[in-house]
Amino acid sequence: MIDAPASDAPVVVDIRKLWTVFHSPEGDQVVHRDLDLSIRRGEVLSLVGGSGTGKTVLLRQILGLEHPSRGEVTVLGQRPGQLGARDAAKVGMLFQHGALFSAFSVLENIAFPLRELRLLPDDLIRDAALVKLQMVGLKPEHANRSPSDLSGGMIKRVALARALIMDAPLLLLDEPTAGLDPAASDSFCDLLRSLHRELGLTVVMVTHDLDTLFDLSTRIAVLADQRVIVSGRPREVIAYEHPFIQDYFLGGRGKRAMEALHETPAGDTPAER
Ligand SMILES: Nc1ncnc2c1ncn2[C@@H]1O[C@H](COP(=O)(O)OP(=O)(O)OP(=O)(O)O)[C@@H](O)[C@H]1O
Ligand SMILES: [Mg+2]
Repeated sequence: MIDAPASDAPVVVDIRKLWTVFHSPEGDQVVHRDLDLSIRRGEVLSLVGGSGTGKTVLLRQILGLEHPSRGEVTVLGQRPGQLGARDAAKVGMLFQHGALFSAFSVLENIAFPLRELRLLPDDLIRDAALVKLQMVGLKPEHANRSPSDLSGGMIKRVALARALIMDAPLLLLDEPTAGLDPAASDSFCDLLRSLHRELGLTVVMVTHDLDTLFDLSTRIAVLADQRVIVSGRPREVIAYEHPFIQDYFLGGRGKRAMEALHETPAGDTPAER
């Protein structure tokens, strides 16, 4: 795991008494009920929860693409919906099904959010996109490739470069390693770890991948029963009695990941985590 920031680091995302209700002819679906969560600068907060528990919806609310039915989301002291286009650039997001635009080159995909704002001349946008391309470990010769010529790991890197193009201090990652093989997933985690350190980012990540979870999180928050039932370091979360947690962390997959944690050298044991 990455070391947690100081406990008095400023709050970047503050979610209070949030309700999300979707209305349909079959009835109302309550996705979030009185959900509270705050995230401090420098954290890598991982959200885990069953499919359909509202993890993606929560990220979209932090981004300002959706609005809660009740309650408050504050990002860097403002409501996401009140942020102007420039302010919206304070949040970068790697979408769960974040397909790249297939008709655009790699570089055009990375540059897209910046081009939309029309704040900079084309050559500066191109330079900025080239910097991000290299930041995510790709080479200038990849710039003109079409997304269809890329591996899964490279596509995730391009999507990450696009999420970073505005130099946003807050990065939202929805299943960043889903669909990657173990080697590509490990190398993507290494990249995220070094970017987090170098850029001083705050990260909110949704992941089903326990290796990614234990590798990167400073804190884990569990979404169940329409709210965050517990958040903390792995030990604290796993000790919380709830059927979802027992299934998730203490099933076969979870046990293997936990064993890997226990095998870490003295001084870096889960007890200290
Ligand atoms: N715009 C919408 N209108 C109606 N229902 C929606 C809408 N967006 C999401 N939902 C519903 O809200 C619930 C939560 O969706 P969400 O995509 O956030 O789940 P998730 O936790 O990200 O799941 P997964 O792990 O499968 O990605 C689902 O039941 C989904 O069908
Ligand atoms: Mg989702």
